[in-house]
Amino acid sequence: MIGLDPRLRCAFELLQGADTVADIGCDHGKLTAALLLDGACRKVIAGDISPDCLNKARDVIDRYALNDRAEPRLGSGLEIIAPGECDAVAILGMGGELIVELLEASPQVVSGMDRLVLQPMSGIEELRQWLYEKGFHVQADRLIASGKRVYQMISAQKADQRDPWPEGFPQGCYLVGYRAFVDREPLLGPYCREQADKRRRQLRQAAGTAGEGRLLREVSQLDEIIKEIEGWN
Ligand SMILES: C[S@@+](CC[C@H](N)C(=O)[O-])C[C@H]1O[C@@H](n2cnc3c(N)ncnc32)[C@H](O)[C@@H]1O
Repeated sequence: MIGLDPRLRCAFELLQGADTVADIGCDHGKLTAALLLDGACRKVIAGDISPDCLNKARDVIDRYALNDRAEPRLGSGLEIIAPGECDAVAILGMGGELIVELLEASPQVVSGMDRLVLQPMSGIEELRQWLYEKGFHVQADRLIASGKRVYQMISAQKADQRDPWPEGFPQGCYLVGYRAFVDREPLLGPYCREQADKRRRQLRQAAGTAGEGRLLREVSQLDEIIKEIEGWN
C-alpha cells in the first residue's frame, strides 16, 4: 500500500473503476502504483515529458513489480496515447493553461475517454471555462486541503451540450466550481471567504490600476456565493 496525500487520494478515488488510466506527468509514480496496487484499475500508462521524472516512475514500477500492468512512456501529454487505448486520464500538478493545451492537442484521444481527472495548480478559471464552453460535463469539482494549500480537482467527461448553469451561482464565474456549489462541497464556504478576503487586501493596492476591475468583479462573485451558502444552513 502506497501512502497518498489527500490530493492524490482524491484523484485515486475519482479514477476508481476505470479500466486503463493514462497518468500524464506521472513524475514520482505514486498515483500509478497506488491505482494498481489497490486494484482501482487494470492498467496504467505512465507518461512524462522529462526522462528524469519518468525514471522515478520506472523505479517505483520496478520496486512494486508492476511491469506487467504499468507502461512508462516518454513524451508530451496525450500524444503517447492511441485513440481508444485509455478510458480515463489524470493530469495533476500542472498549470491549467498547459492542461488545456494538452487536451486540445489530442481531441480524438480525449473524446474516447469517459473520465478526465484534472488538478491545475494555476489557471483554474481558464481550464474550467474551457471545459464548460467545449461542452464537458463536470462530474465532480472537489476542494481538498493538503498541507498549507487548498487544491481544486475536476472530474469531467465530454458531453453533447453545456452543463446547465446552477440557479444562485454567479453567471460566468469560474473561480470555483459550479459543480462544487451544486454538491455543497464542505470547503467551498471557507475557501470563498479566504479568497474574497485576499482580493479585498489586494484591492487596497490596486486602486486605479488595470487589475482593479477584475478584483472587484471577483469579490462580488465570491460574496454572492458566500451569501447563497449562508442560506443553506
Ligand atoms: C509538479 S509535477 C506533478 C507530478 C504528479 N502528477 C503530481 O501531481 O503529484 C509535473 C510533472 O509534469 C511533467 N510534465 C510537464 N509538462 C508535461 C507534458 N507536456 N507532458 C507530460 N508531462 C509533462 C513534469 O515533467 C513533471 O513530472
